[in-house]
Amino acid sequence: MYTVVFKGHEQLASDAGFIPLAWTYRQFPDQESYVRIIDPVPKKVAILCSLNNPDTKIFPVIMVAQTLRRLGAEHITLIAPYFGYLRQDLEFSPGEAISAEIFGQLISQYIDHMVTIDPHLHRIHSFDEILTIPSTVMRADTRLANYVKTHIVNPLIIGPDGESLQWVERIAKQLNAPYIIAHKTRTGDKNVTITIDDLSPYTGCNVVLVDDVISTGHTLYQTAKAVQHPNLTILAVHAVFADDAYALLRSVSSHIVTTDTIVHVTNGISVAPILKADRHTPP
Ligand code: R5P
Repeated sequence: MYTVVFKGHEQLASDAGFIPLAWTYRQFPDQESYVRIIDPVPKKVAILCSLNNPDTKIFPVIMVAQTLRRLGAEHITLIAPYFGYLRQDLEFSPGEAISAEIFGQLISQYIDHMVTIDPHLHRIHSFDEILTIPSTVMRADTRLANYVKTHIVNPLIIGPDGESLQWVERIAKQLNAPYIIAHKTRTGDKNVTITIDDLSPYTGCNVVLVDDVISTGHTLYQTAKAVQHPNLTILAVHAVFADDAYALLRSVSSHIVTTDTIVHVTNGISVAPILKADRHTPP
């Protein structure tokens, strides 16, 4: 499918077999965005842009979508391998914005079909609860499981909290490996406490910590501390890595691997085979 590929996703787009549509993006000196679509616009077209740092990306995505529309696009698919703003999915304290709903409603106004990978759906059970357009949700667990299979013998898969269970369980099942879920208490963005059951039955296993998102890194940092294993691997789907998260995790593991849903130095697993599957092609 002809695709407007945002910066950083060129390799992913090429590996997934998308045909790039020529376009230009730049910022004016005052940081306002400039968008120009250069190629003729087909009726069905996609935009490939991960929605990490969503505040800086969403307006350029809307500008691209509206320009494609004006130039003849009748069906626009947004392929956002990472979909941001999903963790604030509730009014936890009175008066808080429910960001997931607002973000989903905004995107639905400009796009016809949404494609993403492993969205952090916790209290929201389906994308349909926040989007008013059809969506396709893909999973990266098979890619993570393949990585473990080819790089780590005798793995013990550990998830930091109940929310990670869905990834941990799927990966462990594909590997026929044991798994454990730790217990997390979060009292602030960077304040996380982790407790974990006795690991002595797993002496001799190679520990693999698995989570969907690394943001501040404190969840997996505290999990690594609780596990106290000298040589552990950290695997995650989405490499958000806010602030000093990478340095923090490097202090507990020299083997950190993520997928390329978000461009980062730790990318070692491509999601191109998932996106290549033609499932997101609109009817
Ligand atoms: C939350 O429940 C997610 O599954 C991750 O555990 C969380 O987003 C990681 O955040 P951080 O890296 O900031 O601890």
